[in-house]
Amino acid sequence: MEKTPKPIIEKVHAREILDSRGFPTVEVEIIASGHKSISAVPSGASTGEFEALELRDGDSKRFHGKGVLKAVDNVINRFGPALAGQDASNQKEIDDLLINIDGTSNKSTFGANASLGISMACSVVSAAFYNKPLYSYLNPNSSILPVPMINVLNGGMHADQGSDLQEIMLFPHGAKNFKHSIQMGSEVFHCLKKELKKQGLGTTIGDEGGFAPALHSNDHAIELLLNSIEKAGFNIGKDISLALDVAASSFYKDNKYHLKVDGSVLDTDGMISFYEDLVKKYPIVSIEDGLDENDWEGWNKMSQVLGSKIQIVGDDLTVTNPKKLQRAIEQGSMNAILIKLNQIGTVSETIEAIELARSNNMNYIISHRSGETEDTFISDLSVAMGGGQIKTGSVCRSDRTAKYNRLLRIEEQIENSSPVSYTHLTLPTKRIV
Ligand code: PGA
Ligand code: ZN
Repeated sequence: MEKTPKPIIEKVHAREILDSRGFPTVEVEIIASGHKSISAVPSGASTGEFEALELRDGDSKRFHGKGVLKAVDNVINRFGPALAGQDASNQKEIDDLLINIDGTSNKSTFGANASLGISMACSVVSAAFYNKPLYSYLNPNSSILPVPMINVLNGGMHADQGSDLQEIMLFPHGAKNFKHSIQMGSEVFHCLKKELKKQGLGTTIGDEGGFAPALHSNDHAIELLLNSIEKAGFNIGKDISLALDVAASSFYKDNKYHLKVDGSVLDTDGMISFYEDLVKKYPIVSIEDGLDENDWEGWNKMSQVLGSKIQIVGDDLTVTNPKKLQRAIEQGSMNAILIKLNQIGTVSETIEAIELARSNNMNYIISHRSGETEDTFISDLSVAMGGGQIKTGSVCRSDRTAKYNRLLRIEEQIENSSPVSYTHLTLPTKRIV
């Protein structure tokens, strides 16, 4: 009997390329049964303490120690020989192989940037081999386009100035479809630019393409945005609400939260009251990393107080790690998880985290990193996983728009063959009207 053809790995190659911040990152190239894929790995700035290890060379001469030649070498010489002859579409087996060769729980021997590049490139080459777009290779029933969380005001560790809140995002849940959501985001973004200029504020941008003006308070940032939504002619709370990524671990020191822009130092209860107040005053439907990644008690409390009203999203708290997520589920610490492939280091473990969230009725948001490339894997992943939400920065700069533009193409492709839905059908929070 003739064997069914499979994407058999012939060659594994890697190189150092640049990310959107001008730092090196790993790109992996795989050839399987004559088909070729290229996948590039992103990199965070406000990284969680418990993320899988991003291997950097550490010598101070090349790229100030940020080179990734060791990880590149690990792809080629450590993992490469073991992968030759394997079926790239056996994702779980490939990923288990990578995990076993590394032998540590956080991929610290050979680097999660090495394993993730391979893992993604195996998916991509398999999709090419089966002549399918990546989203439909990952899930043939893909039909839901996500609501984008559009980060138009950058602060925290993603900007030199700006609010304490790392990301203030537009959440256009009232859009008719995905392309409409991008149009809305762009229109508000440009109204915001005009408003900033009018107020004599800077319009330079931060790491994720959002503006990063010097502001006198965190409320000021939110009000600027609400003003721009109105100026653009949208209905606040009906067309567009707001989502925050506070990234609170970045300003947690000595058991206190230090809000520089507001000039306040708060304990956990103080932070929760701060959020209660914000949620009362403003149309905020989602708060990510509102508290420090080790403040588990605080997270449980915050979920009790606000979890029935808004989405409470764990990023640094859970680092896309099924074990951490299991703890958060058992303790009721949050009701949504941010999903970042490079926090865990393989596609299979990422999907495992998503499936765990889904089976516990928890929302999940597929996310970029602040250091990105032109790679659009997450766009396809967001559609394939059907969670209905993606976070991939502002509506400018190619590293961010590459993801949105890919989603625009996917929407058109799906529309041409079957019904497509935009997520307002599966609303993520109870506050949306
Ligand atoms: P990072 O930021 O990639 O710098 O971690 C994104 C986020 O915190 O969600
Ligand atoms: Zn975050």
